[in-house]
Amino acid sequence: MAIHFLQPLKIPCSVSGLSRVDVNDLFIFLIIATLTIGCTKEDGPAVSTSLKDKALFGIGAAVSVAHLKEVDFSDAFKNSFNQVSAEYEMKMAHLWTALGTYNWTSADYIVNYAAQNNMKVHGHTLLWYQSFPTWFKNAAYDSLNFENNVKAYILAVVSRYTGRIVSWDVANEIFADNGTLRNDGIVYKTFKDPVAFYGRCFKYARNADPNVKLFYNDYDMVLNSAKRNSVKEMVARFKRVGYPIDGLGEQCHTTIWTDNIQRSSGFTDLAKTGLLMHISELDVRVNQNKSDSYVFTDADQQKQSDTYKSIAAMFESIPQVQKFAITTWGLTDKYTWLTGWWHPKEYPLLFDNNYGKKKAYNGFLEGLN
Ligand code: XIL
Repeated sequence: MAIHFLQPLKIPCSVSGLSRVDVNDLFIFLIIATLTIGCTKEDGPAVSTSLKDKALFGIGAAVSVAHLKEVDFSDAFKNSFNQVSAEYEMKMAHLWTALGTYNWTSADYIVNYAAQNNMKVHGHTLLWYQSFPTWFKNAAYDSLNFENNVKAYILAVVSRYTGRIVSWDVANEIFADNGTLRNDGIVYKTFKDPVAFYGRCFKYARNADPNVKLFYNDYDMVLNSAKRNSVKEMVARFKRVGYPIDGLGEQCHTTIWTDNIQRSSGFTDLAKTGLLMHISELDVRVNQNKSDSYVFTDADQQKQSDTYKSIAAMFESIPQVQKFAITTWGLTDKYTWLTGWWHPKEYPLLFDNNYGKKKAYNGFLEGLN
């Protein structure tokens, strides 16, 4: 059979001096070699295997329109990823310019880019205390007007992208590090029962798109048991009351000095909710002391690779039906929020400044089943 398949591939080989039989042998060898590389766990992943080709779940990255317009960025992104989050261009402060008025330009661009390149879109994020527009905060609405306006916002945004955005973070970071509700945002100040307000927002999103997956997103749920327990209680309450929720996003802004075992056991515990799981904003910091003279040594590159590997393996350890996606918060060390938020000498992602795959990329690959 294989020989028949190869017949049309016969080429004259007077230049090389090879006979037709030699050429066929060469093709057979190449095909077998291609099929064999990366096939078995023992062999380790082939350098040419991409994350999206190996994983049986979504492989996402957070991007911006400006970066998608860079050819090198776009090529590296398309080759390894099949899902996209907007780093900031789908947040409320960006989309919502006034009551009833929206700026869709960047969000549309990202959604269209995804469609053209066969990628899924994860929406991030409908509600986040850091992203209420200033005009909205200044209006100081009472709870009724506040909720009606937010409801209209959710309806407008979710229904615009029905069928084109597969999932939304409905609420982001509502719990403080001690596990209580954050008391520094306007939702807390406006509602007697903020969790019920968020629950109704999940319902508004569901009404706008019955098929979209709805996520709660937060950081450090895996490491901080107080926060994790609060999230689990909220999920239990949602289920009791009938507020829809499909998944949990653990941001996983993490480091090479974080304990892998602690992270994994928290993640396993979180997955006991039975919900879809999303590692939603993965990056791995290396410059522990925020040192100006920090050098990203081979040893730290290896530690970072081991961390990515451990996180991929942790994700693989939950039931297959719960594996939604792993999303990295950016693509290349050239553009990462951490150079501003953490330290200018920071190298947290999978590609280096020149779009070369880092050791971290291969570590991630190795951690996948
Ligand atoms: C950050 C973006 O990376 C920045 O570009 C933006 O200015 C601020 O927000 N947790 C989240 C993300 O849920 O939305 C944040 O993204 C990073 C922390």
